[in-house]
Amino acid sequence: MRWCAGAVQSFTPIWLKVMSVDLRKLFDAWGQTAESGYVDQQWLLSKWEVWEGIVWPPEKIKVMVQSITEGLKLKTSDTLADLGCGGGWILKQLQPRVKSIVGLDFSQSMLNRALEFSPQQMLVCGEIGRLPFKDQGLDCALSYFVFLNFLDDDFVEHALLDVLRVLKKGGRALIGQLPDKSRSQDYDRAKADYIAYCQKNFKLGRSHREICQAPQKLFDIGQLKRFLDGQKIAYDFKKSFNPFFRPGVEPLVDWRFDLVISKS
Ligand SMILES: C[S@@+](CC[C@H](N)C(=O)[O-])C[C@H]1O[C@@H](n2cnc3c(N)ncnc32)[C@H](O)[C@@H]1O
Repeated sequence: MRWCAGAVQSFTPIWLKVMSVDLRKLFDAWGQTAESGYVDQQWLLSKWEVWEGIVWPPEKIKVMVQSITEGLKLKTSDTLADLGCGGGWILKQLQPRVKSIVGLDFSQSMLNRALEFSPQQMLVCGEIGRLPFKDQGLDCALSYFVFLNFLDDDFVEHALLDVLRVLKKGGRALIGQLPDKSRSQDYDRAKADYIAYCQKNFKLGRSHREICQAPQKLFDIGQLKRFLDGQKIAYDFKKSFNPFFRPGVEPLVDWRFDLVISKS
């Protein structure tokens, strides 16, 4: 079963509207450039730092899925929403590990790619910040490589509360791949090493940075903790999967973090 419907809301704050629309245009355009190419080049929509032509080996995908599964403490009885699912490749990996999974994205062209890639997925066109899900309906939520594009602190906080709203009591959400502001030089070094590795080992096509110039936020962990403490939200900061993982480098890194929040 699947459906794609725009979320109907009675009230949207102006700042949320402005921010979301710009990002949506950008991802829509990116999704369109991948039309019909996505099925064969299944990682295209997720290779943020690099180029077409790079293959993610099964070991890398396994490490990433493992880190998400453990971070969320996923059980086969769980209902899960992948918020900002893009082309649906993480969704597809996680599907066998849970009872049910729904992908949500505000870009229709991204959802079209997800349907091309995996026609059986359950998909919803909707927006983080005003999720079209009922209160306390889900065991788990995942948002991976998504919040790093939310530049506005107020919006990040608003979005976290919205995610929390749709979780059942005892439910968990993993907000993944948040860049640590105080470690940005370590990230830059890791990226430069990875680019050198890719140039040596792959025949590179276009750079995805040229295709999609999404803004990226650096997160102040102290500020985030103050917000979560103030809201009495239970949380845990975990090391992130290394997006530059390859043989001989650490699978998890501490210059990015995954925020796991739980509903009490
Ligand atoms: C970098 S992609 C990541 C996609 C996927 N999670 C992955 O890791 O491959 C970010 C996705 O989040 C979506 N997105 C960004 N802001 C959103 C919002 N406020 N609500 C819903 N989707 C959003 C974009 O359309 C895009 O598909």
